[in-house]
Amino acid sequence: MEVVIAPSAELARLAADAIEGLLRARPETVLGLATGSSPLAVYDELARRHKEGLSFARTRAFMLDEYVGLPADHPERYRNVIEKEFASRVDLAPGAVQGPDGLAADLPAACAAYEASIADAGGVDLQILGIGTDGHIAFNEPGSSLASRTRIKTLTRQTREDNARFFGGSVDDVPRHCLTQGLATIMSARHLVLLATGRAKAEAVHQLVEGPISAMWPATIMQLHPHATVLVDDAAASRLQLADYYRQTYADKPDWQGL
Ligand code: GLP
Repeated sequence: MEVVIAPSAELARLAADAIEGLLRARPETVLGLATGSSPLAVYDELARRHKEGLSFARTRAFMLDEYVGLPADHPERYRNVIEKEFASRVDLAPGAVQGPDGLAADLPAACAAYEASIADAGGVDLQILGIGTDGHIAFNEPGSSLASRTRIKTLTRQTREDNARFFGGSVDDVPRHCLTQGLATIMSARHLVLLATGRAKAEAVHQLVEGPISAMWPATIMQLHPHATVLVDDAAASRLQLADYYRQTYADKPDWQGL
């Protein structure tokens, strides 16, 4: 696992560099998209690069998760968030972005179909991730099976409180259920790039990088991934025991290496 500690604008540039590198090498690259505030600067940077000629026309993308039951036109439905924050700002083809169907009549069937779609696309090349304050990735809350695939989950009170800011501050308006890629689904992606900023993420980042692998901190499964990158600002890095080592390693990294 590589840990990069840098100002947030630089983190976004690094993630965008990794994505651009993949797209230039293979325009059919399959991206994994995350919602939440953490990836927004990456989407801004990719939209800026699109204006300068970077094309997503042959790219496909898969979302991590979706609330169950939010109306199709609800602005916080993750499908709509991704459309607004990213897809509508680049030249992704119609239908190129897929997500779990939180409005399906048969949710388990929708989850199985989603897994099949990812597999049919050849899997995700680069998965963007954020992290919840309780260590969740996507919506894999503490206690999630480390071998889980896409399924329905119940959100913790903590996550609903964290996300209430997107629902006018009302925790009661945050759905109780979601569909989420499982931890094993996420681990199948070829490169994981997680972004975290701010002190509220410091404990989760410490556990993710330095804690024991445990379903209590679901992101710790990333320690088993052969190509995982953790991009954090100073505040999110403030509880890392080996922060000095990560800083030195990054400072000494050869320019050609990339993420
Ligand atoms: C939600 C999303 C996660 C995201 C997390 C953190 O729970 N399902 O994918 O990582 O929020 O969000 P933020 O980046 O806004 O802190």
